[in-house]
Amino acid sequence: MTALPKPSDVRTAALERRSIRRYRPDPIPEPLLREVLELALRAPSAWNLQPWRILVVRDLALKSALKEAAFGQRQVEEAPVVLVLYADMEDALARLDEVIPPGLQGERREAQKEAILKAFHGMDLEARAQWGAGQSYILWGYLLLILQGYALASVPMLGFDPGRVKALLGLPAHAAIPALLPVGYPAEEGFPHHRLSVERVVRFL
Ligand SMILES: Cc1cc2nc3c(=O)[nH]c(=O)nc-3n(C[C@H](O)[C@H](O)[C@H](O)COP(=O)(O)O)c2cc1C
Repeated sequence: MTALPKPSDVRTAALERRSIRRYRPDPIPEPLLREVLELALRAPSAWNLQPWRILVVRDLALKSALKEAAFGQRQVEEAPVVLVLYADMEDALARLDEVIPPGLQGERREAQKEAILKAFHGMDLEARAQWGAGQSYILWGYLLLILQGYALASVPMLGFDPGRVKALLGLPAHAAIPALLPVGYPAEEGFPHHRLSVERVVRFL
């Protein structure tokens, strides 16, 4: 097996990441994809609930159909991989034992489960889905930076019809889809960053 490339440091990744919308056809080695996903799944979430789920779409026919659901944005078809990030709160809440740390046992474990279920009890499906989507954006940020660290380009995308994407991929109606993320090796440079300054955005108190 070929060794994984050495990732760049986080400063370099933050400075060099740009949205890339043209891709070379080269496939991404699966061990590299798995490494990126494994690291991104270290992202934190409230209650450690980890409501995010990811589909790794490599099939050309599926990517073509996803492109249509994304208003024809060609990067969806051109990138060798499209990550479909969605949140499934109903699945997460139904399987709390998966996410409560093993160190918490007995009454404390049951109390934690009760507290989590109580927190979401009063919310309807839509509100829970939105909450899950909010958590998933944390994972998304991790993904963008880690991909760049391994010289993999991507473009975050909200320009798609979620109903069509759900139907196409067989996702449950209650799922929220915070992002499509085409990923691959870049065939363009992207645009230089144009960002607000620290002075404009931050106040030190
Ligand atoms: C939530 C979100 C949704 C976006 N949706 C799209 C999209 O549908 N299509 C697209 O080409 N770019 C999309 N972008 C890319 C932005 O236009 C881009 O991140 C922004 O202009 C900054 O440029 P940079 O990513 O090159 O630094 C999206 C970015 C974010 C964060």
